[in-house]
Amino acid sequence: MPNDRRPDDMVRITTPELADAFIAEQIDALRAQIGGKKVLLALSGGVDSSVVAAMLIKAVGDQLTCVHVNHGLLRKGEPEQVIEVFRNQMKANLVYVDATDRFLDKLAGVTDPETKRKIIGGEFIEVFAEEARKLDGIEFLAQGTIWPDILESEKGIKAHHNAGGLPEDMKFELVEPVKILFKDEVRIVGERLGLPAGMVYRQPFPGPGLGVRCPGAITRDRLEAVRESDAILREEFAKNGLEGKVWQYFTVVPDFKSTGIRDGARTFDWPVIIRAVNTTDAMTAEVEDIPFDLMQHLVKRITTEVKGVNRVLYDFTPKPSATIEYE
Ligand code: XMP
Repeated sequence: MPNDRRPDDMVRITTPELADAFIAEQIDALRAQIGGKKVLLALSGGVDSSVVAAMLIKAVGDQLTCVHVNHGLLRKGEPEQVIEVFRNQMKANLVYVDATDRFLDKLAGVTDPETKRKIIGGEFIEVFAEEARKLDGIEFLAQGTIWPDILESEKGIKAHHNAGGLPEDMKFELVEPVKILFKDEVRIVGERLGLPAGMVYRQPFPGPGLGVRCPGAITRDRLEAVRESDAILREEFAKNGLEGKVWQYFTVVPDFKSTGIRDGARTFDWPVIIRAVNTTDAMTAEVEDIPFDLMQHLVKRITTEVKGVNRVLYDFTPKPSATIEYE
């Protein structure tokens, strides 16, 4: 396979020209590897898989089938954006699977964070494999592996996320067109492929999604409170120039209630916790200094617009001692 390892002397892709040259080279390589055959891709809507999709659409067009599994733990508007960008704008073959009920039913009553992660990962593979079996003649599996994934799996830090896990009888040849790139390079390449900036420059989002921001047993109503409060936070950060400046920001709705008052009557509802941090490598992180008036505005919006919430808290804790996510 071409470009299996990042050459030691490879120039870092920092300009549109370098990105264009990389894209042209990869498109030739992809056409040579794939020929007239069919390719499958699990498209999460994250940066890496989106860039791989855009690259393959350019290289082999409708020989590519993308499968977008909505596990019910995505942020507000995410599945809609994947459909709009890839099906409507880029004219990709996109299979959209709304597996929300399947995931949430399996997760019902499960409180242990690692068990929750395992259920989400395992169910994802099952849904994806089921969709793959419905398609005829697929010989290739495309993946958004990037260079740090390879380095980390070589060092034994984490298992290389991808192909691992598909059933034994499903054998595909791998297609990994951004495998020698660092994240910042993937973003520039994505921009040059015509992906929206909001998609290529988006903040990190964990695979188990909002599931790790709904600590303990996930319920649909509390999950909805996480999704709605997160959407308000993102909207306000974008309006106030913090999008792209703050590394990662989100909300968490813990599984406890406290007393409040609304329209003269007692309430007993959840708090929303706001987390906003800056880091370079996610190993340590500092808390963002959110302006007090913005904080007050967030409290007002969240307590009036999000159902089941009567309090807003700000997490002032750096990493360490806290991790960035809550589970
Ligand atoms: P922590 O919580 O460990 O997070 O300080 C560090 C960074 O990793 C992300 N994260 C995950 N990403 N699957 C992922 O794909 C996961 O299970 C996961 N857990 C944490 C987190 O969002 C942060 O950017």
